[in-house]
Amino acid sequence: MAVDNKKIDEIISRYEKTEESLLAILQDFQREFRYVPEEGMKRLGEVLNVSESKIYAMGTFYKALSLEPRGKHTVKVCMGTACHLKGSGQILETIERDFKVKRNHTTKDMLFTLESVNCVGACAMAPVVVVDEDYSGHARPSKITDLLKKYK
Ligand code: FES
Repeated sequence: MAVDNKKIDEIISRYEKTEESLLAILQDFQREFRYVPEEGMKRLGEVLNVSESKIYAMGTFYKALSLEPRGKHTVKVCMGTACHLKGSGQILETIERDFKVKRNHTTKDMLFTLESVNCVGACAMAPVVVVDEDYSGHARPSKITDLLKKYK
């Protein structure tokens, strides 16, 4: 996936050229590109004089950062106990089948990244699917495809 190098430099230019800026810049990459591109890590290594392995380690350590391109929307299917008992596994399988995507991967059109997650804290509404920040409770396998099709 091609990334705009000018944008990478523009983001880096917002910060002091010290190692302390590393995390903030990586977060800005994440916001701008929806992931941390390899080109960005390379450039950051040169400009801040930090080893790429250190940057890579930071990129893999923080859950909010992704080193792989992510979809426009994140779909989290709760697989906690309450949701699991109410059939969230079938919801996950339905999404995998209908959108041709495996869990923890992204659809070819880059629209959705599918994740299975632990309890999202809304057990009373089990099973729960969270699209970006929107919680859908009492989700049904038969309704989930239509629900996701509303997201463009
Ligand atoms: S188990 Fe799914 S919200 Fe708690």
